[in-house]
Amino acid sequence: MNNTAPLPHTRFAKYRAEVCSEDEVKHLVHTFYAAARDDAMLGPIFAAEVKDWDAHLTTLIDFWSGLLRGTMRYHGKPLAQHANMEHLTPCMFRRWLTLFFATTESMGNPALQEKADAIALNIAERLWKSFAESHAIVAPQL
Ligand code: HEM
Repeated sequence: MNNTAPLPHTRFAKYRAEVCSEDEVKHLVHTFYAAARDDAMLGPIFAAEVKDWDAHLTTLIDFWSGLLRGTMRYHGKPLAQHANMEHLTPCMFRRWLTLFFATTESMGNPALQEKADAIALNIAERLWKSFAESHAIVAPQL
């Protein structure tokens, strides 16, 4: 098969379509985590947990590049990692989403914004449910 041929159209094609460049992924991750580190609610959590910011940002760029561009460079276990944290609340997840949505909106790429926001909301719900289950909390919807 010719490697340069476009992928055949399937009902999953929209999930594979590239909505942004690698530079936009980097911009998204750097801008969002700058806001999160500066945030009164989320900043102290990141300050306490993240020892190496360069490594963390590289991991998050791989994570979002995989989700938005299909590059498949991320192989971590975010569910387990967040479930092991202490004292996360629905309010914190909502704050995380508010900052994330403001970041994607500021980028002027509606396709990226729509896809990244939908994925973030879906994963935030899953992270919160998994955190709540492992801490025996009855979890309200985000
Ligand atoms: C209350 C909301 C959240 C907080 C406070 C939070 C906090 C953190 C912290 C502190 C780490 C770093 C852990 C470490 O380096 O040891 C981390 C890692 C990570 N977070 Fe979150 N997070 C939140 C929500 C989310 C959401 C909604 C997503 C995805 C949409 C996400 C994706 C990730 C990923 C992919 C990693 C890297 C895991 C790895 O190292 O493989 N987080 N988070």
